[in-house]
Amino acid sequence: MNNAVKQPQTVLVLGGTSDIGQAIVSALVSPALRRVILAVRHPGEVDVDSMTFGNADIVAVAFDAKDVSAHEALVADLADRFGDLDVVVQAFGQLGAAGLDDPVAAAELAQINYVGAVSTGLAVAARLRAQGHGTLVVLSSVAGVRTRASNFVYGSTKAGQDAFATGLGHALHGSGAKVMTVRPGFVRSAMTTGLDDAPFAVDPADVAEAVARGLRRGSAVVWAPGVLRIVFGLLRYAPDMVWRKLDR
Ligand SMILES: NC(=O)c1ccc[n+]([C@@H]2O[C@H](COP(=O)([O-])OP(=O)(O)OC[C@H]3O[C@@H](n4cnc5c(N)ncnc54)[C@H](OP(=O)(O)O)[C@@H]3O)[C@@H](O)[C@H]2O)c1
Repeated sequence: MNNAVKQPQTVLVLGGTSDIGQAIVSALVSPALRRVILAVRHPGEVDVDSMTFGNADIVAVAFDAKDVSAHEALVADLADRFGDLDVVVQAFGQLGAAGLDDPVAAAELAQINYVGAVSTGLAVAARLRAQGHGTLVVLSSVAGVRTRASNFVYGSTKAGQDAFATGLGHALHGSGAKVMTVRPGFVRSAMTTGLDDAPFAVDPADVAEAVARGLRRGSAVVWAPGVLRIVFGLLRYAPDMVWRKLDR
C-alpha cells in the first residue's frame, strides 16, 4: 500500500533490466520502499546483490513478454508471495529493425511490444482491482503518436500499447486501480545505444523524474520531456509530405 504521501512499498518492473525501468525505481526510493521485484528474461544473470534501491529487498523473477499464458499466474504468484503491488512498471520492449521486408520479425516485435503489453496489462489490472489500489505505469512512446516510415512497425506496436493503456485506464475508473501512460521521446538507454540523439533527447533519470511526479499527482498521461505534448500536438496534424521530410 502507498503511504499517506503516495510513496510505494512494493514496485514490480516487468522488463526489470530496462534502463528506464530501473531509473524509475531509483526515483521512487523512499523510507517506505520495502521491495523491488525485477521480472526479467534471465533472472540468474541479474546480480541483485550489487544493486541498491534505498533499503528495499530486491528479487529477480523469470518473465518473458512472449509467454502470454504465464502472465496471469506470474502476477498472482507475486501477489501471494509479496502482498500488494503498489506500482507496476511495464518496461519491457524492443526497438527491432523490422520494416517492409521481414513479416516474421515484425510479428515477433508486435508479439512482445503489443501482445505482451495486453496480456500483462490485464493480469496486473485484475490484481490492482482486487487490491482496490495501485498504478500500472506503461512505457509507451511518442513513436506511436504518429508512425514514421523509418520505424513504423515499432511505432505501430507502441500505438497499440498506448491505445490499450489509455483505454484500460478508462475501464478501471472508479476501481481504485489506475494506469499512467508515459510517452517518452528519444531516451539515451541500452535500446538506443549507437543512435544519434533525436531532438529533445533525455536520459532515463529524466523520464523517471517525470514518472515519479506523475504518480504523486495521479496523472493519466505523462510526456517526457513535457514539451513533446505540444510538439506532437502539432506534428500529428502536419501534412504527410512534411511529415515524411522530417523523418530523415
Ligand atoms: N529508449 C528510448 O528512446 C525509448 C523511448 C520511448 C519509449 N521507450 C520504451 O521504454 C521501454 C524501456 O526501454 P529502455 O529504453 O529502458 O530500453 P532497454 O534498457 O533496452 O530495456 C528494454 C527491456 O525490455 C526487455 N525485454 C525485451 N524483450 C523482452 C521479452 N521478450 N520479455 C521480457 N523482457 C524483454 C529487455 O530485457 P533483456 O535484458 O532480457 O534484453 C530490457 O530489460 C520500452 O518499452 C521502450 O519501447 C524507450
